[in-house]
Amino acid sequence: MTNIIDGKAFAAKIRTEVKHDSDNLISQKSVEPCLAVVLVGENPASKVYVGAKTKMAAECNIKTKDYKLDDSTDQETLLKLIDDLNNDASVHGILVQLPLPKQIDERKVIDTITVEKDVDGFHAINAGRLSIGGEMLKKAFIPCTPLGSLLLLKDQVEDLKGKNAVVVGRSNIVGKPMSQLLIEESCTVTVVHSKTKDIESVCANADIVVVAAGRPEMVDGKWLKKGAVVIDVGINRIPVTKEDGSEGSKIVGDVDFASASEVASKITPVPGGVGPMTIACLLRNTVTSAYRHAGLEDPRSI
Ligand code: GUN
Repeated sequence: MTNIIDGKAFAAKIRTEVKHDSDNLISQKSVEPCLAVVLVGENPASKVYVGAKTKMAAECNIKTKDYKLDDSTDQETLLKLIDDLNNDASVHGILVQLPLPKQIDERKVIDTITVEKDVDGFHAINAGRLSIGGEMLKKAFIPCTPLGSLLLLKDQVEDLKGKNAVVVGRSNIVGKPMSQLLIEESCTVTVVHSKTKDIESVCANADIVVVAAGRPEMVDGKWLKKGAVVIDVGINRIPVTKEDGSEGSKIVGDVDFASASEVASKITPVPGGVGPMTIACLLRNTVTSAYRHAGLEDPRSI
């Protein structure tokens, strides 16, 4: 029988650890971890994420500084704000919510954030450290969604070594860093994407499937090996017709949950799987950054 992975409960456990570490830093060094959250524009999904991040930070005794900028903000203004936050010793983490409006060069913005405050782990140097692995990985910030997915996998799978893992999607935010984390865990990793021929036959060999394709319910149970462990990173809102005939919508993942849960041994639901883990890991990275800025060892390792 399929075991549904409770990401919500696991994320709550991580946040309890984060709060404990934060409280420890406050009492030991009188340093209060602080995350600056920058939102440019009116993207409704981004607004929801930013609101959730701010609320959960407060619950973990992490301070937040919120910056809401207009959709028409020019790049120079945003870069100036980041520069100010880089130089503000009370700020330990800087998060610029993506996507950014068209007039702004995302890569330029990300690489302007000082590496030591890049709690999203998107800076080229943090990406390089993850890619190199080993000791370099210990100095990196790891992107929050892949880190959350890995923590769930480590909790659910006794030994990742030698497992066949397929990552669906090759984004810089999830697919690429996920594949590198799994390589570091000694999995045999295959990355598939929109141009891959016959994704189904690649998935058929996978002990672990991590799906971050951005396509609602793309992965069907028929693609999976019996007993596979499935991590669904997708969050998609799709239209539905309700019982009374009215139009509504619902949130689904990138995996067809009904068919996949017949085949998988373990699977994350959407919502309530990876989503809460992403925020928990952002808070974890912020506290790690505050420890590093205070000259202390990291409170937790992967
Ligand atoms: N947009 C979607 N996911 C993320 C994330 O993890 N961090 C940021 N900054 N923006 C995002």
